[in-house]
Amino acid sequence: MTLSAEPHALTLEAFHTAVRGEALEPLWLQPDGAMTAEPVTPFCPYRWRWRAVRERMLQAGALLPVGKEGAARRVLIFRNPGAPRGAPTTPPLGAAIQLVLPGEQAPSHRHSPAAIRFIIEGRDACTIVDGEPCTMTPGDLILTPSWAWHGHVNAGAGPIFWLDVLDVPLVASLYQFFYEEHPDGLEAPRRAPDASLARYGAGILLPQDVLPAHGDSPLLRYPWAVAEARLRALADTPGDPFDSVLLTYTHPYTGGPVMPTMTCRIQLLRPGERTRAHRHTASVVYHVVRGRGTTIVDGTALDWEAGDVLALPGWVWHEHVNAAPDAEAILFSVSDEPVLRALGLYREESRADTRGA
Ligand SMILES: [Fe+2]
Ligand SMILES: [Fe+2]
Repeated sequence: MTLSAEPHALTLEAFHTAVRGEALEPLWLQPDGAMTAEPVTPFCPYRWRWRAVRERMLQAGALLPVGKEGAARRVLIFRNPGAPRGAPTTPPLGAAIQLVLPGEQAPSHRHSPAAIRFIIEGRDACTIVDGEPCTMTPGDLILTPSWAWHGHVNAGAGPIFWLDVLDVPLVASLYQFFYEEHPDGLEAPRRAPDASLARYGAGILLPQDVLPAHGDSPLLRYPWAVAEARLRALADTPGDPFDSVLLTYTHPYTGGPVMPTMTCRIQLLRPGERTRAHRHTASVVYHVVRGRGTTIVDGTALDWEAGDVLALPGWVWHEHVNAAPDAEAILFSVSDEPVLRALGLYREESRADTRGA
């Protein structure tokens, strides 16, 4: 059809057909549901049991080698069961468990998506990040920023497990995926072990360094001993109404999140404590470091214990309960909050006080 066709002969139906053939789409034909009053997502709140996941990982360890003769990484992704097959954990975040067996090396590579790792079990292993061997002990947080080389080495006697959280879905949705394998297989160390911790870990006194503008923390390892000591130091303070004793891992120079796309936090729920409910547009992946409890999500109780992983999509009401009378609970979490804040999309609401409800 040409533009010179007689206007009175052109029906609306014929018009639709014609413009669609010209790579144009009438907005008025879009489903009404596209404009929702509030966020609507197929992603659901979900909890994965550590006992079951650990067992599956050991089975994968027996079946699948890592390194030259096997897979580059032995990883099970936490796939959100509410989302389309192949979708990750929350819309912008992909969480996973990784296992490296004694004596194994996972070769170095780098990619545009950034990753954080939170060590669950194992010792005497390290991740070499841009030439810096970062010690991996339980509770440590290790960063592999966008485009940083990283390979893993387990020199210990037992398996090492950790939680991976990456911004792969976000990067992929923008079609910005870059990937490269290291020419040497495993990158050789070029710096002292935990060199960035020695240089930037003091917190209140920092070298006069000129840092790249990309916003990644230059501190690559946040040791568990420091996190636990800070939680302990603040354990008797009032805390946050929605998260109790809540600490954010920060970029030492900016005080902002450790990466442009992910905020990492650690929180302590005291014995018998129940937080108030709130909701925010940021989605969150939780890992239970210690204790047991319940997170009530939009009225549904998800109970958890040490090692479990929870996914909360954005804009769901949630509150945490540690019903144990004599044991504390500790949760590590990763959220996409920095992305939403950067885009002006971050919102947060609180509900009336639910304590004692
Ligand atoms: Fe990687
Ligand atoms: Fe929250």
